[in-house]
Amino acid sequence: MTNIETLRWVGDWAGHLELIDQTLLPIELATIECRDVETAWEAIKMLRVRGAPAIGIAAAYGVVLGVQPVASGDKESFCRRFEEVTEYLAKSRPTAVNLFWALDRLKRKAAALQGTASPKELAESLLAEARAIHEEDRRICRDIGRHGAELIEDGQGVLTHCNAGGLATADYGTALAVFFAAAESGKRIHVYADETRPLLQGARLTTWELQQRGIPVTLICDSMAAQVMREGRVQAVVTGADRIAANGDAANKIGTYSVALAAAAHKIPFYVAAPQSTFDLSLPSGDGIPIEERDPREITHGFGRQTAPDGIDVYNPAFDVTPAELIAGLICEKGLIQPVTAERIAEVLGACS
Ligand code: MRU
Repeated sequence: MTNIETLRWVGDWAGHLELIDQTLLPIELATIECRDVETAWEAIKMLRVRGAPAIGIAAAYGVVLGVQPVASGDKESFCRRFEEVTEYLAKSRPTAVNLFWALDRLKRKAAALQGTASPKELAESLLAEARAIHEEDRRICRDIGRHGAELIEDGQGVLTHCNAGGLATADYGTALAVFFAAAESGKRIHVYADETRPLLQGARLTTWELQQRGIPVTLICDSMAAQVMREGRVQAVVTGADRIAANGDAANKIGTYSVALAAAAHKIPFYVAAPQSTFDLSLPSGDGIPIEERDPREITHGFGRQTAPDGIDVYNPAFDVTPAELIAGLICEKGLIQPVTAERIAEVLGACS
């Protein structure tokens, strides 16, 4: 099958961003156009575009949209607007560090050129940097898939949580890249996909992507994962991540921590697949990772139907943190990081950066 194009920039610096509206899947595969930074911000906030690497790419293009109106003006207004726009996009979602990583890359680019370039040249350079982030992600996802596939054996059952597929990245995924690459190399695998309450990224997106590629997949409710493991159906778990601290603690979609605990209880290896841009080495442990809290209505009124009494108290954290000791290995574009310790992470990422 052809790869999913999660997002696409159309035209030159004055162009626009097109992205798959993931809230419509799997019923409808439709794109939306973002022609201003506010539309890009809303798309990130409302999970029309989602998944850590895809959020980073969308934010980078969002900056270009944001500076378009001042690209024919004076440099002072351009710089002021650039700052406003990066601050604004940084407030869309707090957990996935890829968003801040992408904004920082654009800030460094602007800072390097500010002295000599005109506003229009700056806008062009920002677009080039956003495109570079986008292109690099395609290559990185394939490297992650190649490294991770070595951990999967022919005939295995594997389990994943949420969606860390093509839709969450430029086009091939992180956790799902491992399964795609294993299947492409001829290994017969069977994927169990957690539905991923409350927004059902597993049910709506992961099963859809696997189905598109003809990889056998069985959808289960989140609460079924331990039983499925107990029945011996799963030999490895692979998930993505939104932010990995220096010691290897990894934030990912809410429910991932429970899956890791269940995997440990059944002696099943639990792997996390993520690019280097998902590591936040400024945080010593996962305790410092900001966890997004979302609208209670995602739980009480999911997909248009009220499922809880009026006025009920709700807690809705969108992510949790899996401690490093539960993670058998971190799969990044540089290879497998094992054991998951601060020393090993620094060694692999430091040596290769
Ligand atoms: O809230 P979401 O759908 O953006 O959460 C996505 C996840 O938790 C993914 O597993 C993570 O971002 C990795 S995507 C390669």
